[in-house]
Amino acid sequence: MPESLPQVAGALPSPQGFGVTRRGDPWWVTPTGVLVGLSVFVIYSTWAVFTHHGAEFGNYVSPIHVPVLFGDTPHAWFGPKPAVWPAFLPWAPGVFLFWAPAGLRLTCYYYRGSYYKAFWGSPASCTVGKPWNTYRGENSFPLILQNVHRYFLYIALVWIGLHLYYVGGATRFADPVTGEVSFGLGVGTVVMALNAVLLAGYTLGCHSLRHLAGGFLDRLSGRPLRRCAYECTSWFNLRHMGFAWASLVWVMVTDVYVRLCATGVVTDYRIL
Ligand code: FES
Repeated sequence: MPESLPQVAGALPSPQGFGVTRRGDPWWVTPTGVLVGLSVFVIYSTWAVFTHHGAEFGNYVSPIHVPVLFGDTPHAWFGPKPAVWPAFLPWAPGVFLFWAPAGLRLTCYYYRGSYYKAFWGSPASCTVGKPWNTYRGENSFPLILQNVHRYFLYIALVWIGLHLYYVGGATRFADPVTGEVSFGLGVGTVVMALNAVLLAGYTLGCHSLRHLAGGFLDRLSGRPLRRCAYECTSWFNLRHMGFAWASLVWVMVTDVYVRLCATGVVTDYRIL
């Protein structure tokens, strides 16, 4: 018995060593872009969650703080910071619920495939050498926890409604003299509305939602509603990566816009 399998004629040997490959194309561009893009988002959003000051401007609320449950702000649903909040813990209105949208992205099938490559390099791309040769997949702790994704999806569907609620609030402007509230549109309203649309597009393309819509059925004929839902989620699913990045960037853009308005650096232009 030979001790190792004979080499198949013409087959390429497995690359040995991290990053070693025979590929001549710029395979490293995508994982590097993901590494930089996600790092920027994680750093920025962490700062933003704990820096509520300036994240609201009149009827505009930054999407990073949605919904505002507690806080010293007129947008807080349940009043000021709870008195029982431990003094040693950092406080911001967003600390209660930021885990919900973060959990959806962290466990997203698309992002998983991307950040495993970008941050762990195991492998960074096809036929590129890995830093280690053990592979346990997602069948053991801690990656088996990624299976909670569908529950984050349920929460995310509620979050779409919350963002639309805040977009509705961004169409209500108070008259500076009389205080009377009436319908209006500002640039901030459009920025927030586009944010809600992109987040909805990202969520509706979720693999778990597509599965729920009809992925487990043998056939969809004779089921017009299921077929419609399945085709709708499939359309978004094909564009999931695009919506994932566009919504990620636009969340930051919206937060920055609201903060610039709040600090007076930018004047919000009223369209209507
Ligand atoms: Fe990306 Fe569900 S697979 S949000």
